[in-house]
Amino acid sequence: MSDGPRREAILEVRGLVKHFPLTQGVLFKRQIGAVRAVDGVSFDLRPGETLGIVGESGCGKSTVARLMASLERPTAGAILYKGEDISRLSRRALKAVRRNIQMVFQDPYTSLNPRMTVGDIIGEPFDIHPEVAPKGDRRRRVRELLDVVGLNPEYVNRYPHQFSGGQRQRIGIARGLALNPEIIVADEPVSALDVSVQAQVINLMERLQSEFDLSYMFIAHDLSIVRHISDRVGVMYLGKIVEIGTDREIYEHPTHPYTQALLSAVPVPDPTLSHRRERIILAGDVPSPANPPSGCRFRTRCWKARQRCADEEPPLAVPAEFERATGPVAHPSACHFAEEKPRVAQP
Ligand SMILES: Nc1ncnc2c1ncn2[C@@H]1O[C@H](COP(=O)(O)OP(=O)(O)O)[C@@H](O)[C@H]1O
Ligand SMILES: [Mg+2]
Repeated sequence: MSDGPRREAILEVRGLVKHFPLTQGVLFKRQIGAVRAVDGVSFDLRPGETLGIVGESGCGKSTVARLMASLERPTAGAILYKGEDISRLSRRALKAVRRNIQMVFQDPYTSLNPRMTVGDIIGEPFDIHPEVAPKGDRRRRVRELLDVVGLNPEYVNRYPHQFSGGQRQRIGIARGLALNPEIIVADEPVSALDVSVQAQVINLMERLQSEFDLSYMFIAHDLSIVRHISDRVGVMYLGKIVEIGTDREIYEHPTHPYTQALLSAVPVPDPTLSHRRERIILAGDVPSPANPPSGCRFRTRCWKARQRCADEEPPLAVPAEFERATGPVAHPSACHFAEEKPRVAQP
């Protein structure tokens, strides 16, 4: 965790929407609907902070990441980088912005080209931005990057298959750092790694954050992984953020039933507490993002659901009952009944 985020946002995401057309037919494709991968997401990323994003597979995390890194264009909404909407920029104008917002991908086994040497992989961003490392300086810069991520600079001519999973992710991180970005969007950077290696990569990322003054968006499907590294956490469900808050707000005072369910599945290190926690088993699967439930999207799996939840979509806002409250309970949660006592016993 960083020293604590400064206040003004470096990235403001406002009403972000990404729909993918759903087509039928092979020869004559007809659009029969849309996959609503991201369906109205808003949040701020502040300088120097780590914002964790969690949620089950398919809830739209990677799509949010790709939109932030300008690898996709949104269907609607805005992404303000230092106040400017980068989602509408021309390709030319985008190039300069992209340099500052880099991605680290989930799978270090498939995201590195097996036919390129590590030196060429890490130096590839310089082809697009030669101003960062002029030709004569590249070699030195690549070796420096290897050193920064804890790999031997002598490995520069080796190929990805000669490295372990954790080392490969270090190579992916070195590539992400090559252009001196301000923001790193890390899409499940440790999910493909052995548990024993996950902590090493997370520790490395924390060290790099303070060394290079980076802001992180750190995606995971598991709340226990993001807890250590995140200043704030947003919980996603079916294309929406359902709850967002500081580490303490989310882990100690979750008010959305989905967050409570995810937390109930997290192992509790203290056995004297674990018996006070009720394991919440969610009924059924995540509904299709092509046809989400009316009202609250979580209602089909929620034990609190009643008529109002089907009729009326709960906004992501501080629940009225908590508005006057101070302390960690007063944070945004998209549930009509957020104020009701959670089923998860609090330690
Ligand atoms: N390029 C695409 N074309 C069509 N559907 C997509 C595309 N990318 C993602 N989706 C769909 O959007 C939804 C969200 O996907 P994704 O953002 O990858 O979720 P997550 O990263 O949380 O697992 C899924 O239903 C997925 O199938
Ligand atoms: Mg994903």
